[in-house]
Amino acid sequence: MIRGALLGIIWMTYCVCASFQQETTFVYNGFDQGDLSIHLQESAKILPKKDILQLTNATTTQMGRAFFEQPIVFKPSEPVSFSTHFVCALVRVGEVRGHGMAFFVSHSTDFKDAEPTRYFGLFNPSGSASTRVLAVELDIAKASDVQDINDNHVGIDVNSPKSLVAAPASYFSDKEGRKIGIELVSGEPIQVWVDYVGTRLNVSLAPLGNQKPSRPLLSSKSINLTEIVQGRRMFVGFSGSTGSSVVNQYVLGWSFSKSLASLQKIDISRLPKVPHPSIKNNYLSRVLDVLLGLLAFLVLGLVFWAYMYRRNLYAEFSSEDVERVLKVGLLCTNLAPDARPSMEQVVQYINGNVAMPEVWPDSPGIGVLTPMVFSPSQHSLPSLSLCSSSYNNSMFITHTVFHGSGR
Ligand SMILES: *[C@@H]1O[C@H](CO)[C@@H](O)[C@H](O)[C@H]1NC(C)=O
Ligand SMILES: *[C@@H]1O[C@H](CO)[C@@H](O)[C@H](O)[C@H]1NC(C)=O
Ligand SMILES: *[C@@H]1O[C@H](CO)[C@@H](O)[C@H](O)[C@H]1NC(C)=O
Repeated sequence: MIRGALLGIIWMTYCVCASFQQETTFVYNGFDQGDLSIHLQESAKILPKKDILQLTNATTTQMGRAFFEQPIVFKPSEPVSFSTHFVCALVRVGEVRGHGMAFFVSHSTDFKDAEPTRYFGLFNPSGSASTRVLAVELDIAKASDVQDINDNHVGIDVNSPKSLVAAPASYFSDKEGRKIGIELVSGEPIQVWVDYVGTRLNVSLAPLGNQKPSRPLLSSKSINLTEIVQGRRMFVGFSGSTGSSVVNQYVLGWSFSKSLASLQKIDISRLPKVPHPSIKNNYLSRVLDVLLGLLAFLVLGLVFWAYMYRRNLYAEFSSEDVERVLKVGLLCTNLAPDARPSMEQVVQYINGNVAMPEVWPDSPGIGVLTPMVFSPSQHSLPSLSLCSSSYNNSMFITHTVFHGSGR
């Protein structure tokens, strides 16, 4: 009985030790919302259903931190070293770009003095932050007061956002044998490797799908991690911040170990997809632009049509005018030259100063092809008056008796 209990205790101790051992080597192929091994601070959260770690939530002057719950502890006999590989993405929110993010190693999880913006939620302007930190920053804003080299760089920071070493974001392509620039805030997943052995800290990055470059982007040989964190116990994680402009900072996958040899591979195929609200927004705004354009076109067209319509109303000839002009036309095309009005008469007819002689389809010279000679006196007035009755409009379709002669 006692033996059994002892065995049980030994077995349990073994399990706890084994799990503790395991916890210094871990890999996340995406993040589970219910996973308590990731401790979240401030605006950091694991997006439900997306399995993605988001550091800041696209609101201004935020900071968000996420770190592995358990401290990484090195036994006195153990060399202090680590290797990490993570996949992150910085996604624009609209047109602006905010501040970047950092991988950090710290002596504590208490960042009460830390500030957002260019301080990454890890440091502060006076340098008085009580938390001692080693950070690898992915910086997308140029702040001259912290001597940033540009607005797209990677730097190694110790207790300050003024980097010990920094370089424009790029990677060495072994395939092409040259350096290739990387746009950090492209929204595309970026792989970052950080290796620390002895006092050497190396940082490499590459787009997703690339091998780890054979040459690091940054290499500093004077990093004493035990001195920085003042001990052999440390926390590891990520921090991001926003200022007046914002950016979405995502971590898709993360592998960490005390040594490169025991570092587990990230399963790229299992990584969550980067949410692209900005692209959606752009798409939406483009659609909206098109719709607005169409609307503007329609409104303009409507205004133009209304304008033309009103002008037409104002400029419209009365039916009498139209009739008069048509009649003058008919008179002028009379096959009998003598029957055609003179220019002076035309003007007078059109102006309405002089009453026009009435015409109808079978008036002499109208509607026939052979010229005919007649004298206006041959027309009897009654027929004219009959046709010029008040039903002017019907004049050309009404056949009245032709009283004239001349056929
Ligand atoms: C963002 O996070 C902050 C801090 O956690 C919170 O106060 C704020 O309401 C959040 N904003 C949005 C839009 O989720
Ligand atoms: C850092 O990079 C240098 C140069 O490529 C290499 O010699 C060294 O082994 C690397 N160290 C680590 C810890 O990866
Ligand atoms: C690093 O710093 C610790 C504590 O200050 C010191 O004991 C150790 O010798 C240093 N290591 C190296 C390689 O300088």
